Amino acid sequence: LVDGNLIKWEGETSEVYSTISSTKDYKPTVLGSIPTLTEKEALSALDAAVNAYDKGQGLWPTMKVADRIACMETFVEQMKSKREEVVKLLMWEIGKNLPDSQKEFDRTVEYIYDTIEDYKQMDRDSAKFEKHDGVRAHIRRGPLGVVLCLGPYNYPLNETFALLIPAIMMGNTTIFKPAKHGVLLLTPLLEAFRNSFPKGVVNIIYGRGRTVASPIMQSGKVDVLALIGNSKSANALQNQHPKSNRLRLVLGLEAKNPAIVLKDADLDLAIDECIAGATSFNGQRCTALKVLYVHEAIVDEFNQRFSEKVDSLKFGNPWENGAKLTPLPEPDKPAFIQELIDDALDKGAKIINKKGGETTENYIFPAVLYPVSKDMRVYEEEQFGPVIPVIPFSDIEEPLDDMAASNYGQQVSLFGKDIKTLAPLIDTLVNLVCRVNLNSSCQRGPDVYPFTGRKDSAVATLSVHDALRSFSIRTFVASKDN
Ligand code: G3H
Repeated sequence: LVDGNLIKWEGETSEVYSTISSTKDYKPTVLGSIPTLTEKEALSALDAAVNAYDKGQGLWPTMKVADRIACMETFVEQMKSKREEVVKLLMWEIGKNLPDSQKEFDRTVEYIYDTIEDYKQMDRDSAKFEKHDGVRAHIRRGPLGVVLCLGPYNYPLNETFALLIPAIMMGNTTIFKPAKHGVLLLTPLLEAFRNSFPKGVVNIIYGRGRTVASPIMQSGKVDVLALIGNSKSANALQNQHPKSNRLRLVLGLEAKNPAIVLKDADLDLAIDECIAGATSFNGQRCTALKVLYVHEAIVDEFNQRFSEKVDSLKFGNPWENGAKLTPLPEPDKPAFIQELIDDALDKGAKIINKKGGETTENYIFPAVLYPVSKDMRVYEEEQFGPVIPVIPFSDIEEPLDDMAASNYGQQVSLFGKDIKTLAPLIDTLVNLVCRVNLNSSCQRGPDVYPFTGRKDSAVATLSVHDALRSFSIRTFVASKDN
């Protein structure tokens, strides 16, 4: 979708595979194909976005709030009619189970409606005047310019739209490149984008990052880099911008969220929440629990009951009833997880659940590793997949020191009962991460709450409310009271 046109592509294409086999031979299924655009088309998408913005004078950045909202409402109404198609593609492309795929779609629709409401409130607030020292100010929020958006494969709809929708809503113009997996599911929505927004406001391009995203950044015409994914790609793209220090960044990056299970924790609750936190969508969530610190007084009981529960999780194709564990969309992920497991086993850990590490072509059963130590790769690296390291601790300073030394700082889950112990601990933890989940697993939602991180985990904040602010700047008209 470039400059309001759905281009009929006659050049090179690349096939999109699902690791889910439609037969019993484990051969990947070809789902369709996408255009492999060249630099030329990528730059024409950039030109379309630059022209539509027109230095802030374009139709979209100057459009009345009510009219911009009407465009967004048209979009969300048209989007809703595509639910079934998008949900089906979510299951095939990224292996997300049916309830979670439906939830991803519905959550995105809700996110758009909530964004519209927040934007209306922002507009109402901007009608008010402030007065300080005889100067009256009419403060409002304006767009930043041209936004390049890149979304992740694990939430190809929801997190992508958590960037794209607020960026558009605030009057910016956009170029969006989807992730490698979770790309076809945008096809049913292309017409809705084309029908709802003026030409050039939303441009959607496909292709290899190096061929399409790099020249866009090198042009120096991008004002905001909005990316959810890994810091390596974010850094590379940022550095390609000739004035990278002037570029606004909105980034959601890696995390290694720990759970800390204190000795007085309600074990049933802690185990259930750790299961959900570590295994939902096979651990492929930035908010997943990626390391479990368990007090040594209860670690044996925790390990036994936790491992049994992990083993009871059902593996199946995404549409199968009750399938909690599903095929991994990245063909090389099982081998990567196996490397982490082998490294930990070599250094003294054991797989403590019976099914841990069982593999098929597109899947590896979650392995619970114990005891994990700091020299193991799985302690340091973000696994983003089905392996769960457990670390025993005797003194709370141990997990706290590890968190302070970590490169990441997104969230933590804290399990315990004694408020006298919990209260000071929470005060410490909120200065190490951005969200402390008390007796519950880590998660991004509800989407009205700020979603961000310290250190290498994030730049800027995403939530319904915050994202509108991350994609805009405060401007004002001042007049002297005379
Ligand atoms: O991958 C990172 C996502 O932001 C996780 O979102 O906690 O809603 O699954 P979630």
